[in-house]
Amino acid sequence: MISKGTKIAPPEGKLGVLIPGMGAVASTFMAGVEAVRQGLAKPIGSLTQMGTIRLGKRTDNRTPMVKDFVPLAGLNDLVFGGWDIFEDNMYEAGLKAEVLERSLLDQIKPFMESIKPWPAVFSKDYVKKLDGSNVKKAANKMELAEQVQEDIRNFQKANNLARTVMVWCGSTEIFLKPEAVHQTIESFEKGLVNNDPGIAPSMIYAYAAIKMGIPYANGAPNLSGDIPALMDLAKERGVPICGKDFKTGQTLMKTILAPGLKSRLLGLHGWFSTNILGNRDGEVLDDPQSFKTKEESKLSVLEHILQPQLYPDLYSKYTHTVRINYYPPRGDNKEGWDNIDIFGWLGYPMQIKVDFLCRDSILAAPIVLDLVILQDLAARCGMSGIQEWLSFFFKSPMCAPGLYPEHDLFIQQMKLKNTLRYMMGEEMITHLGLEYYD
Ligand SMILES: NC(=O)c1ccc[n+]([C@@H]2O[C@H](COP(=O)([O-])OP(=O)(O)OC[C@H]3O[C@@H](n4cnc5c(N)ncnc54)[C@H](O)[C@@H]3O)[C@@H](O)[C@H]2O)c1
Repeated sequence: MISKGTKIAPPEGKLGVLIPGMGAVASTFMAGVEAVRQGLAKPIGSLTQMGTIRLGKRTDNRTPMVKDFVPLAGLNDLVFGGWDIFEDNMYEAGLKAEVLERSLLDQIKPFMESIKPWPAVFSKDYVKKLDGSNVKKAANKMELAEQVQEDIRNFQKANNLARTVMVWCGSTEIFLKPEAVHQTIESFEKGLVNNDPGIAPSMIYAYAAIKMGIPYANGAPNLSGDIPALMDLAKERGVPICGKDFKTGQTLMKTILAPGLKSRLLGLHGWFSTNILGNRDGEVLDDPQSFKTKEESKLSVLEHILQPQLYPDLYSKYTHTVRINYYPPRGDNKEGWDNIDIFGWLGYPMQIKVDFLCRDSILAAPIVLDLVILQDLAARCGMSGIQEWLSFFFKSPMCAPGLYPEHDLFIQQMKLKNTLRYMMGEEMITHLGLEYYD
């Protein structure tokens, strides 16, 4: 555990950003950073770039920008690399994703064309709906992990990088449960050599990164780094890890609304969520095994926020259903409907309808940026293992064994900001506020 006002190494030099999975989210993120660097747009939605943090009493009037309060890497220091099963450079990937306008991509074309994916660690066994040729070959999974490490070393050397972080933006893999092979570093490394089917490609990237001391964040719901073997390795190597599944769209709405309903002790009969989505992510999630991974991630949210065991009269009998339908015409512009059946005083029923016409990658890109910057901060502070204070960004936050995850967006935000205050030796804010009335 770090101490209050811990010593933080300064963010000197270049920060390498490694992305396994360079599709819609990754290209929107990289294009966005470059557009901001060139003064073409603003980093809307990014806590590290646009957020503020109150320090001391309300009457102190001390509310700096987060980036002026903690020593963070600057956008000009970021250098990008990554892997994909398709050979498209980031300009081509951005055009295909159809998230950003061509006119914006054309203004940053040389930059986007310069980022070309390295061959990926991939097997159709884990993502049924995808097929690509830019894929590594090796005798076993340990050799694949070594090839990933070789790519990273070449990237670090070629760009003279001071530090590196990795964020998984690859497709959602099939649903896997932790098994014996995932339990210890030894069993996992043996499994890599023996090609154990329990080890998915995302775990191989995570292993390679953590082994090299590189912080790892998982933006998809598949297990990846969320297994005891890799958590132990992260502790052993002093590496921060976090995940899973970027909190965007419908689940973001859910974690905004549900805490509000609970705080007013309004009961819930049912919450029906359905989505139509037409991007490649939607196509991958059309496979029942990948959808199962996503469904688990989306369903767990309400249970943890509403705590039916503490409020049996309000939340013990609700129905919660989540659907995702692949509907190509919508592309990345997802539509998420929620029908929420609630009840109030004396049990009288009411309904809430939400229709969120969102843009998936536009919501995810600033999260990738914040995770890059804050995981690098955590590493420079000497923090290692699960970074629960970064739960704010995830649908299925990783947390210590035996703890339940905190899903309430507002508690997550308070935890994040208090962690920043603690790092910098400032008083944490409890919002008690009695001192103003003495
Ligand atoms: N956009 C959002 O709002 C959001 C929110 C939460 C989670 N996610 C998750 O983020 C991930 C990326 O989403 P997206 O919209 O960019 O999807 P996408 O399909 O556009 O991009 C994913 C990319 O990963 C590549 N890929 C798959 N397996 C790989 C492997 N083993 N190695 C290297 N590359 C691999 C694919 O070829 C593809 O280009 C998905 O898992 C998605 O579920 C997205």
